[in-house]
Amino acid sequence: MSARGTFIVIEGLDRSGKSTQAGIIHKKLAERFGDQRVKLIKFPDRTTPIGKMIDSYLRSQSDLDDQAIHLLFSANRWEVASSILSDLQNGITIVCDRYVYSGVAFSASKGLSFDWCVAPDVGLPSPDVVLFLDISPEAAKLRGGYGEERYEKEEMQRRVRENFKQLGKEQKTTKEESWVEIDAGKGLASVTEDVWTAVEKVMGQQAE
Ligand code: TMP
Ligand code: MG
Repeated sequence: MSARGTFIVIEGLDRSGKSTQAGIIHKKLAERFGDQRVKLIKFPDRTTPIGKMIDSYLRSQSDLDDQAIHLLFSANRWEVASSILSDLQNGITIVCDRYVYSGVAFSASKGLSFDWCVAPDVGLPSPDVVLFLDISPEAAKLRGGYGEERYEKEEMQRRVRENFKQLGKEQKTTKEESWVEIDAGKGLASVTEDVWTAVEKVMGQQAE
C-alpha cells in the first residue's frame, strides 16, 4: 500500500447496493492491511447536529428549501473534510458511502443548476476513484425498503441517474480512470467481484 491512503467513493441510486459493497470493501481491506489502515465513512452522517437536521428532512419530519437542504448536505461533508485529509496523509484508506456526486445529482434533479450545486463542495478532498453502482430505477424499486424516504420515488431516481451519468462524463474528462461504472443490477457475487477488481486496480496504481 502507498504511504498515502486511498480515497474510494461509492455512489449510486438508493437501493443500488452501495452500503453493502462499502461494507464488503472495508472488511476485505481491513483483513488485508489491518483495522487501523482503513476507515468506513458515510454521507449523510446523520449523527452530527447537521446530520440530524438532514435525517429529519429525509424522513419528512421537517421541510426545508431545496437550497437550504443542499447546503446542509455539503456542510455535513465539510464537518469531516480535515479529518479525511489527515487520515489519508497518515496512510489510512477511506471507503466512503456517497459523496459530492450524490449532493449534485439529487439536488439538480429538483431543478437547481449543476453549477450552483457544485459550488459549496469545491475544495473538498478529491477521491482517487468513484465506483458508480448503476442500476435502473425499476430494478432498484423492487429491492426491499425502497420508498421509505423522501427521494425514493421512481421518477426522481430516473433524473438522478441521468445526473450521475453526466457527472461521470465530466469526472472522466479530468481523469479517465477515476470514474468506474459497475452494473449493480447483477447478483451480489458478481457485483462484489467487479467492485473488488476496481479497488485493487486503483490501489495498485497508487502503489506504483
Ligand atoms: P442514504 O440513503 O445513503 O442515507 O442517503 C439519504 C438520501 O440523501 C439519499 O436519497 C441521497 C440523498 N443525498 C442528497 O440528496 N445529497 C447528498 O449530498 C447526499 C450525501 C445524499
Ligand atoms: Mg437511502
